[in-house]
Amino acid sequence: MKSKEIRSAFLDFFESKQHKIVPSSPLVNKNDPTLMFTNSGMVQFKDFFLGNKKIVNKRVADTQKCLRVSGKHNDLEDVGMDGTHHTLFEMLGNWSFGDYFKEEAIAWSWELLTDVYKLPKDKLYATVFGGDKAENLDSDEEAKKIWLKYLPESHILYGNKKDNFWEMGEMGPCGPCSEIHIDLRSDDDIAKIPGNELVNKDHPQVVEIWNNVFMQFNRKADKSLEPLPAKHVDTGMGFERLCMTIQGKKYTYDTDVFTPLIQFIEKETNVSYEGSYERSAKQDIAIRVVADHIRAVAFTIADGELPSNNGAGYVVRRILRRAVRYYYSFLNRETPLLYKLVPLLASEFEFVFPELIAQQDFVQKVILEEEKSFLRTLEGGLKRFDSLVPVNGLLVVLKLLNC
Ligand code: SER
Repeated sequence: MKSKEIRSAFLDFFESKQHKIVPSSPLVNKNDPTLMFTNSGMVQFKDFFLGNKKIVNKRVADTQKCLRVSGKHNDLEDVGMDGTHHTLFEMLGNWSFGDYFKEEAIAWSWELLTDVYKLPKDKLYATVFGGDKAENLDSDEEAKKIWLKYLPESHILYGNKKDNFWEMGEMGPCGPCSEIHIDLRSDDDIAKIPGNELVNKDHPQVVEIWNNVFMQFNRKADKSLEPLPAKHVDTGMGFERLCMTIQGKKYTYDTDVFTPLIQFIEKETNVSYEGSYERSAKQDIAIRVVADHIRAVAFTIADGELPSNNGAGYVVRRILRRAVRYYYSFLNRETPLLYKLVPLLASEFEFVFPELIAQQDFVQKVILEEEKSFLRTLEGGLKRFDSLVPVNGLLVVLKLLNC
């Protein structure tokens, strides 16, 4: 399946289960001082969980643009180094607001993954919350019992609070969660070490694909947990990882979500992408950084956050500069590159997130100006430092510029 078909299949599946399909909310979270950027699909629904807003549709599904570059969930420094982390990613999600709970959520996850996407049942693992004494929370035996209908006991694992109790931020809705992991290793490797020993152990081919959160509490400012007025379901499936799994790739960058961007960068820079994940493969890292960061920067600007010197705008500027730093240092590129990727990105997402194509010229102009000004700073700084510190001028300049 192409990535576009994978996305549609998710939305069609939940529409057939009476969910209303809604648009992604903006990446920038202006109304919530506890969160700078939308970091998961549930953010736009926070007030439904807390009981502060009247629920109109009890079942909702969507694909949400998410950014994990600040606060509790921050993946920025991993991006480019490995093959699964991103600044901007899409989260496919389905929600129940006081309607269905664990039974249906788990049954539908299983049906979609195994009947629609045809993922191999024997490669799937589920984790459930193992309880936490300090928080006075019991283990989630209910979720485990439901999973036993689909998976053998050896494929169901208990997890701790870090992995199996999902919280939006320092405060806000939270609850125990059940993650679904897949083992993408070869049969030979599986024969040597069973998958259940590698779940949640940062193995690049034993990865989480879907998280089912059973929202039951509100974390308050004093850190106590208060039961919510009703019980809800909040699920999130990383779209890029799902595409990697279904398309039989080892890394998200090898899926058709990223290959058009990577090919464009190769053509522009005359550097070929070898797909290496060695720390020394600086050109490959740089190409991944550029392909990833342009998505975060372009969509954030389209959603109304301009690069600036403080707050969310500063984070956007840092992401953009990180991309410039990588292409300048490792792709021998001394002229703006990122802005050139915007039309391609906008057309790829025309029917999913039309806000980018609608503002394509504006977004391009903002990015171009930022790139020009940062490249000037780099050049100017380099010339001065090269005369003082002949060998490591670039490193010193980058350090001083905090990027
Ligand atoms: N909120 C959960 C997560 O982000 C499920 O959507 O993983």
